[in-house]
Amino acid sequence: MKDLAGKVAFVTGAASGIGLGIATALAQAGVKVMMCDIEQDALDKALADLKQTNADVEGVIADVSLKEALQAAADKTMDRFGRVDILVNNAGVGGGGSYGEWTDAGWSWTIGVNLMSVVWGVEIFGPLMEAHGEGGQIVSTASIAGLLPVTQPPYNVTKAGVVALSEGLRAELAPRGIGVSVLCPGFIRTRILESNRNVPERFAGARDTTREGAVPRESEFADMARQAIEHGIDPLYVGELVREGIEGDWPYIFTDNTFEPAIMERFANIKAGFDRIRDRTPRH
Ligand SMILES: NC(=O)c1ccc[n+]([C@@H]2O[C@H](COP(=O)([O-])OP(=O)(O)OC[C@H]3O[C@@H](n4cnc5c(N)ncnc54)[C@H](O)[C@@H]3O)[C@@H](O)[C@H]2O)c1
Repeated sequence: MKDLAGKVAFVTGAASGIGLGIATALAQAGVKVMMCDIEQDALDKALADLKQTNADVEGVIADVSLKEALQAAADKTMDRFGRVDILVNNAGVGGGGSYGEWTDAGWSWTIGVNLMSVVWGVEIFGPLMEAHGEGGQIVSTASIAGLLPVTQPPYNVTKAGVVALSEGLRAELAPRGIGVSVLCPGFIRTRILESNRNVPERFAGARDTTREGAVPRESEFADMARQAIEHGIDPLYVGELVREGIEGDWPYIFTDNTFEPAIMERFANIKAGFDRIRDRTPRH
């Protein structure tokens, strides 16, 4: 999508962190943005800040883990802007629990917000992009954890799901004029470790005071993650990368090279699995 000015974007999780960075970068490129979030105060503040720059932005409250809430947000977007060109499935939460600690509520919350919202986003917004005949772009926020399972199982699983969904849809939607990108951030300076602030009531059992987002409060990994996120990449820079990724229809949008060697090692392990089977001597 070469000329972004005048296009319309729908961005989830837009009141904070990476979503706010993406909404800001798109708005600065002249895109009209519907900013969707579950957190009213944060959304009000983000909207007020952006409107000061004359950005054409609007807000809508929705819990994206509810399909009907996402549909209602899409209806409001059509009422306000009349079309959609860009969908950014970004809302996400860290949580769920490790082996021996995870709960059904934790799995359901994580799968609902991180994965099903992406499935429904594509289902609801895909036809709106097709309707005007000019095509569009879908960007979904996965994580490095989608390629390298370094955090807790529920988070890893949902992010691997977003990678798989995006890779498959890229081929399927290209003939329909819709580009598909997956964003795999490293450590970004956001409120992800405070994800517990937004647990919907029906997943109340997922609210775990012993942990911060995806990681136990007291652990070596928690200390490392806390440090890394506190000193992480500026979400506005991630927003600029996403804007560039949309303009260039990038399949993968990475934010940095920190985890590249570890991901290459994973590919080497997969290759070793194929080599083992090729070289295996059949038993007679
Ligand atoms: N920060 C990182 O280091 C990092 C790394 C990799 C991937 N990510 C991913 O980036 C995305 C954005 O997270 P972030 O780091 O900016 O965290 P954040 O907590 O700052 O922002 C997440 C936003 O999503 C919203 N949200 C949460 N639950 C919601 C729901 N049910 N419905 C609608 N909105 C909801 C929150 O209110 C918040 O505004 C997530 O998908 C996350 O998994 C973050």
